[in-house]
Amino acid sequence: MEQQKKTMKALVLEEPKKPIVFKEIEIPTPKSGQVLVKVESAPINPSDLAFLQGHYSSNKGYPCVPGFEGSGVVISSGGGILGWSLVGKRVAIAAQTQWGTYAEYCVADANSVLPLPDEVSFNQGACTFVNPLTVIAMLQIVQEANVKTVVHSAAASALGKMMVRYFQDNGVQVINVVRRAEQVEILKKEGAQHILDSTQEDFDEKLKALCTSLNATIFFDAVAGELTGRVLRCMPNKSTVYVYGGLSLSGSVLDPSDLIFRKQTVTGFWLTEWLKNKNIVSLLFLLKKLKGLLLSQLKTDIQREACLEEGINAVKFYTSNMSKGKVVFKPQNRQEKQNE
Ligand SMILES: NC(=O)c1ccc[n+]([C@@H]2O[C@H](COP(=O)([O-])OP(=O)(O)OC[C@H]3O[C@@H](n4cnc5c(N)ncnc54)[C@H](OP(=O)(O)O)[C@@H]3O)[C@@H](O)[C@H]2O)c1
Repeated sequence: MEQQKKTMKALVLEEPKKPIVFKEIEIPTPKSGQVLVKVESAPINPSDLAFLQGHYSSNKGYPCVPGFEGSGVVISSGGGILGWSLVGKRVAIAAQTQWGTYAEYCVADANSVLPLPDEVSFNQGACTFVNPLTVIAMLQIVQEANVKTVVHSAAASALGKMMVRYFQDNGVQVINVVRRAEQVEILKKEGAQHILDSTQEDFDEKLKALCTSLNATIFFDAVAGELTGRVLRCMPNKSTVYVYGGLSLSGSVLDPSDLIFRKQTVTGFWLTEWLKNKNIVSLLFLLKKLKGLLLSQLKTDIQREACLEEGINAVKFYTSNMSKGKVVFKPQNRQEKQNE
């Protein structure tokens, strides 16, 4: 085992909704079934922001280290065949434990890490789980419903770019809803065919015409607030909105007559819950598919690397520049080429 140190640098959340603080804390000890990972890269995602603001469902106790995903090298196991078999491996991490990825070391359940192919850099590998798996899950939902066109909000997000590439390659069209002209350009570069800016006067009219002609009956909504009902109003009868994010920080506003008379439905999507319903065979199949797509359809743009010391300033920078790509913490301060 490489690790000899007793303490590590980390970003710590002492209490819910308090600012994160950079400090030296004891290196956590993995329990049986868990592994200790030396973290190389850890992205800031909207779910991390929601957790820091106290809006995210999580079992983490306090104090804790935030950071729900990342990548690194497994340096020790708390016990169990799977954990031991991972020691020394480069892995992607889904960290649901108290000791997340915004630290030099994190603790993860051995079945929540995935060995990374050599050609996948730590920065790309750090963005393996949250968005790519969600896009794969969404395509399954669409295919099971036999729907050929969907509407997507906050579409210039990292997830939105993946959706454009992955859905189009699988024969599903996306009507991309954005809120700024620059985002239209971002999505054009990804090959998106239908992009509508919700700040334009003719937005509702154009959306209605597109949804009708392409029979778009599923809406994946990351924004909520008044946008949920506004988009649903433009969609055919019996359409369904999957609210899967709350970027507007306000509750979805809906017109009851759309639900009552037009049989529109509203539901939620949470990757964690969706994965719980998968059996081991379909999970293994999913992970194999995921690995093969990490450098193509499910690739993530990285705009900036930050050291842990930058803490809250890195979070603020990301919050003001979300469409430009992910900001990743580099706890070992080892830089990688951007977009490697
Ligand atoms: N439910 C689940 O299981 C699940 C899983 C994965 C991801 N998600 C959700 O997926 C969404 C995208 O995640 P990501 O990592 O791809 O995000 P990201 O790359 O950080 O991009 C966020 C995007 O949202 C836009 N945005 C922010 N606030 C907005 C608002 N109030 N109205 C409209 N657009 C807004 C940003 O545009 P600006 O540049 O204009 O700010 C940016 O384009 C998030 O809501 C996340 O929580 C949910």
